[in-house]
Amino acid sequence: MSAEFFNLVEARRAIKEFDDSHALPEEDLAKILTAAHLSPTAFNIQNYRFVVVQDKKFRHSAEFLEACWNQDKAATCSALVILCADKGGWRYPERFWRNEGEELQNRMRGMINSYYDGKEQVQVDECHRSCGMAGMTIMLAAQALGYHTCPMDGFDYGKVGKLINLPNDHIVSFMVAIGRKTAEPFPRPTLLPRDEIVIREKFSW
Ligand SMILES: Cc1cc2nc3c(=O)[nH]c(=O)nc-3n(C[C@H](O)[C@H](O)[C@H](O)COP(=O)(O)O)c2cc1C
Repeated sequence: MSAEFFNLVEARRAIKEFDDSHALPEEDLAKILTAAHLSPTAFNIQNYRFVVVQDKKFRHSAEFLEACWNQDKAATCSALVILCADKGGWRYPERFWRNEGEELQNRMRGMINSYYDGKEQVQVDECHRSCGMAGMTIMLAAQALGYHTCPMDGFDYGKVGKLINLPNDHIVSFMVAIGRKTAEPFPRPTLLPRDEIVIREKFSW
């Protein structure tokens, strides 16, 4: 079982070319999104928002492609998930601690308020932490179902936000293109030496 997981991690690559004619079955999309929703968030705030863009006409439009810096995989993939998050998503613990009783809800409210209230940078960071985790889950879930993916941040955030009616107080983190590859990825790019990436106990300089 665990070997399967490691194979999956190794098989995931950033795919650059997708089959434009492939349609992602709704049940597979649902599995991917259900898995994404199980990705952890601090205090269980679930501040991520997954904007699933499937409309091919829209994605092939000159306006959208230009906003995506003409990365045509945003159009040719089967589904494009734009990972957004609500900066103010922490404000309503009565929603995401609803089933756990009032006492716990109040305790969480105190902790959550002192963590986020008035701290813009922390709120923004939390959006990216949550989306990062969910994005990886999306990629691995798609891979497990036999699809391919590409994470993307090469696009105009302002223009894409406008095109998807991004609400105030929300931010776009990145996108994940999901589909069927039509070309193999480049050979895996250089991995830095493990010793540079893994620090045991503390940095030594
Ligand atoms: C946050 C993020 C943004 C990325 N943006 C793009 C992108 O806009 N276009 C693209 O072709 N690849 C993009 N990539 C793919 C990376 O170039 C790729 O993941 C990296 O070179 C490692 O290759 P691998 O994913 O195949 O192991 C992005 C990856 C990440 C994690």
